[in-house]
Amino acid sequence: MMKKSLRLLFGLLIAVATVTTLSCRVAVRRGFVSVGSADNELLSGSAATAALNSTLLTFAEVDIGEAKERKEVEQLLEGNYGNQLRSRSISSWRRENHPEARPRGSVIGSIPIRTPKYFWNWHEFRRVLRDWYRRKRFEPEIMNELVGLVKGPMDRHYGFLNSDSRYGSCAVVGNSGILLQSEYGKLIDSHEVVIRLNNARIKGFERSVGSKTSISFVNSNILHLCARREGCFCHPYGDNVPLVMYICQPVHFMDYTICNSTHKSPLLITDSRFDLLCARIVKYYSLKQFVEKSGKSPIEWAPAHDGSMFHYSSGMQAVMLALGICDKVSIFGFGKSVTAKHHYHTNQKAELHLHDYEAEYAFYQNLVERSQVIPFLDDKFKIPQVIIYH
Ligand SMILES: *[C@@H]1O[C@H](CO)[C@@H](O)[C@H](O)[C@H]1NC(C)=O
Ligand SMILES: *[C@@H]1O[C@H](CO)[C@@H](O)[C@H](O)[C@H]1NC(C)=O
Repeated sequence: MMKKSLRLLFGLLIAVATVTTLSCRVAVRRGFVSVGSADNELLSGSAATAALNSTLLTFAEVDIGEAKERKEVEQLLEGNYGNQLRSRSISSWRRENHPEARPRGSVIGSIPIRTPKYFWNWHEFRRVLRDWYRRKRFEPEIMNELVGLVKGPMDRHYGFLNSDSRYGSCAVVGNSGILLQSEYGKLIDSHEVVIRLNNARIKGFERSVGSKTSISFVNSNILHLCARREGCFCHPYGDNVPLVMYICQPVHFMDYTICNSTHKSPLLITDSRFDLLCARIVKYYSLKQFVEKSGKSPIEWAPAHDGSMFHYSSGMQAVMLALGICDKVSIFGFGKSVTAKHHYHTNQKAELHLHDYEAEYAFYQNLVERSQVIPFLDDKFKIPQVIIYH
């Protein structure tokens, strides 16, 4: 009975959501051209700080999608789920990112979603959504809290002594096809912690991508899809592996509420202050590249990038997480090459238009070369050593 009602509930969420247009914010962006083309003049401390352009900083601070998100959250908190679900869809996102993840057996029909049966879920849903939304503000000190927020629950889960030190070394494994051009598998697995993205398959690719997974970092669309499976099965790496997830759509807190209670491993949602910080950093790099390449005013960035939909990628936030919880960060499988597939594990050919990967890559290059010019980070935050493997 319980299972059936969950299936029905998700059937409704999916059915309604697939009717309409947009997903985890979509940014219109042309392909990723080259790597490391960001200016590479070397700057020292104070000169570097001055290199941040204050006009662009001001633009990056504006969250164009804020009003829309506030409205969505308010509607959900008021119990007005209909409008919210009709306004967005995950279908285009799924088509592009996970052609293999076709919805199976979606149930179409009306669900007595306001009946007492669902009361606890909606109650929890609103509580966690409200907490998350209330916390959302610019607070770069959040980087120093990541050890407590993420590593703490992880250490308790793995039975390690809970300490406030960082992990010795972390590998963040992106999903680019360039991974197939090397055999980094053993090197990746030699890191204390291995972070993988959006449940990319590793079976059959171990020589290139390794086989160890300590953290599965996903966006909430992934949980939304697999939450409909029995037992919220969302663990290609084993159900003992903790999941860290950022929220693409506030309504996905429902998936979280339903799955969290049955999860064997921690299911953590990124702090909204951390989300906001990541968003600002990527937007700054995107603005900077936009004005440098097009010669246009930053005012024109928003229409060119569908500003209210602009979003950082999962890879970017996973790298940010690693910066916060690791002493040494190795980045694998990020970037593009004309001879490589877009994803190592799918045959998707087209470039995604979801994010500004090129801007994100400039950010990673800065981490490696001259981390002192990264905008919005707190001065007291110590950026660990970062290495990019091509
Ligand atoms: C900062 O960026 C703006 C917008 O592109 C530009 O007009 C201005 O000259 C830049 N300022 C400096 C100091 O480079
Ligand atoms: C999620 O589940 C864990 C483990 O059962 C629990 O400690 C935690 O409080 C739950 N989180 C929320 C927001 O309910």
